Amino acid sequence: MGTRIIDGKTIAADLRGKVTDAVHRLRRDRGIVPGIAVVLVGVDPASEVYVRNKSKAVAESGMRAFDCKLAASTSEAELIALIAKLNADEEVSGILVQLPLPKQIDAQKIIAAIDPAKDVDGFHPVNAGRLASGLSALVPCTPMGCVILAKTVHETLAGLEAVVIGRSNIVGKPVARLLLSENATVTITHSRTNDLPSVCRRADLVIAAIGRPEMVRGDWIKPGATIIDVGINRVPGEGGKARIVGDVAYAEAMQVAGAVTPVPGGVGPMTIACLLLNTLRASCAQKGLPAPKV
Ligand code: GUN
Repeated sequence: MGTRIIDGKTIAADLRGKVTDAVHRLRRDRGIVPGIAVVLVGVDPASEVYVRNKSKAVAESGMRAFDCKLAASTSEAELIALIAKLNADEEVSGILVQLPLPKQIDAQKIIAAIDPAKDVDGFHPVNAGRLASGLSALVPCTPMGCVILAKTVHETLAGLEAVVIGRSNIVGKPVARLLLSENATVTITHSRTNDLPSVCRRADLVIAAIGRPEMVRGDWIKPGATIIDVGINRVPGEGGKARIVGDVAYAEAMQVAGAVTPVPGGVGPMTIACLLLNTLRASCAQKGLPAPKV
């Protein structure tokens, strides 16, 4: 049996189409247009690309994008003042502050200043706590995308051995909590885990989110396992051109696994699709409407 390539681009396009339809219905039936404020501080080139892609996707979905670009010298107080304005603005359903932030700004303070109801990144401690407690929450986008992709392979995740590699607040911890809420048996591993390859070999489902190029090798993988690769690592390629690779040695995984996400074209496109879904959900909740059917 061949290894299935999980086509994140197509799955994300399908989800974006459903969000776009729901946004259209919301405008037509209720005159509501969800909006997201995308805040970028400074001139980090990678962040500029991410922010441009997010704003473009928001516009394509029929929602409003409010781009807020601030100078690299912006103070913490100035950014908090902007967030207070966006919190109070009824046209703004979601607020995304692109990370990383310049050194003079404490990212945790900024995240805590966002109204949890508008926290479409799902990074606010209230949303993290609600997710950890099994309550409804705005859920971080990349973890949500990982679970959607895993469910295209497995009808249910209940009972699966899931191994998460990485314990960040953005991916590792929230994806583990989501998998637990799907009744998987979840192990969170990290840089201090003893004999990581052995732990990984137990997994029916691996979520690799360590940020180390091709760290997960073919002989770490149980035959037939599903591999979700969150890594986006730039490495030197042929002719001095940079190449993007994941946290999993893709060619090796393709020899052993049952299903694998490619990099690029796997988890990446899902993150933006889930951001659109979160913005739609936030908008409906703020207007007292039931969760949209998507
Ligand atoms: N920087 C890298 N990934 C993300 C993300 O998902 N959200 C935000 N706000 N910043 C990021």
